[in-house]
Amino acid sequence: MDGSCKHFISLSLAWLAFFCLYFTFVSAELQRFQQPVKADGSLSFLVIGDWGRKGAYNQSEVALQMGKVGEKLSIDFVVSTGDNFYDKGLASPDDPDFKDSFTEIYTANSLQKHWYSVLGNHDYRGNVRAQLSPILRRIDSRWLCLRSFIVNTEMAELFFIDTTPFVDEYFRNPKHQKFDWRGVIPRKKYLRRVLKDVESALRESVANWKIVIGHHPIRSMGHHGDTKELIMQLLPKLEANNVDMYINGHDHCLEHISSITSPLQFLTSGGGSKAWKGDFHYLDRDEMKFYYDGQGFMSVELTQTNGRIAFHDVLGKVLHSLDLSKQLYTAM
Ligand SMILES: *[C@@H]1O[C@H](CO)[C@@H](O)[C@H](O)[C@H]1NC(C)=O
Repeated sequence: MDGSCKHFISLSLAWLAFFCLYFTFVSAELQRFQQPVKADGSLSFLVIGDWGRKGAYNQSEVALQMGKVGEKLSIDFVVSTGDNFYDKGLASPDDPDFKDSFTEIYTANSLQKHWYSVLGNHDYRGNVRAQLSPILRRIDSRWLCLRSFIVNTEMAELFFIDTTPFVDEYFRNPKHQKFDWRGVIPRKKYLRRVLKDVESALRESVANWKIVIGHHPIRSMGHHGDTKELIMQLLPKLEANNVDMYINGHDHCLEHISSITSPLQFLTSGGGSKAWKGDFHYLDRDEMKFYYDGQGFMSVELTQTNGRIAFHDVLGKVLHSLDLSKQLYTAM
């Protein structure tokens, strides 16, 4: 082999190494999961948030009703909007709270489906890696919790976003509440990465329905209220990319706010256990469609052109529903 050939090979190897590193560290994309749907192409799921209290505060009663509604709608999966385990997430992958607050509570047949979960701020107060650990999937194969990821179905794409690191307050007084920021620090870089990944995934999406899920509300009249960091940093990206729904927990209530500047519906399902009765600041505005400060959950049914969302209370009663269509929107 002559010198120039050697030179060419080493240069090629250098480029190859560069591209491998580039794709590993620079253009790392969000992990995607394919979720099969019903034979007719339709899809249905339940949404629950702020729940893990070993059955207390009506968690078990809500679970019972989820089982019934899940059966009726023949749901394909469940979404958890975070604060999965109170008060401080899980201590380790073999923390008994996982079984006591999840496996032993959501026992209905209809709920034996994938549970796609994000982390809430309370989850970050434990060992955050425990909830992300694949060991949990061996204990209960339904469980799937990642920081940010995408679930693909034929006509809907669900974008799960890790919202806790966006909230300035959690970084302001680290002595007051301890958070497990492993994997998040350096924070600015982490947030930039999340926003970039979400934005490019939204832009490239050809799904009929684009649904974004995070723990913290963008808009809410509950105890915590709006999350200003998300209004500033995330909301413009959702509106620019025609997102249909933003679904969250954090405020322990059921709530529907309709954007007046875009088709976006803000939906809170944070009534999985302890609710904050009476703790809200009422917004008397056109976009405020529904607020319930008790326990319950949400159901979503989608076909290519139509969507139905309903909020159910602890006794299974439908408190509020809305019908969406790709052509027109009417709240009922
Ligand atoms: C459980 O739900 C019922 C019915 O909404 C309510 O009256 C009761 O206060 C709830 N219990 C707790 C502990 O939240």
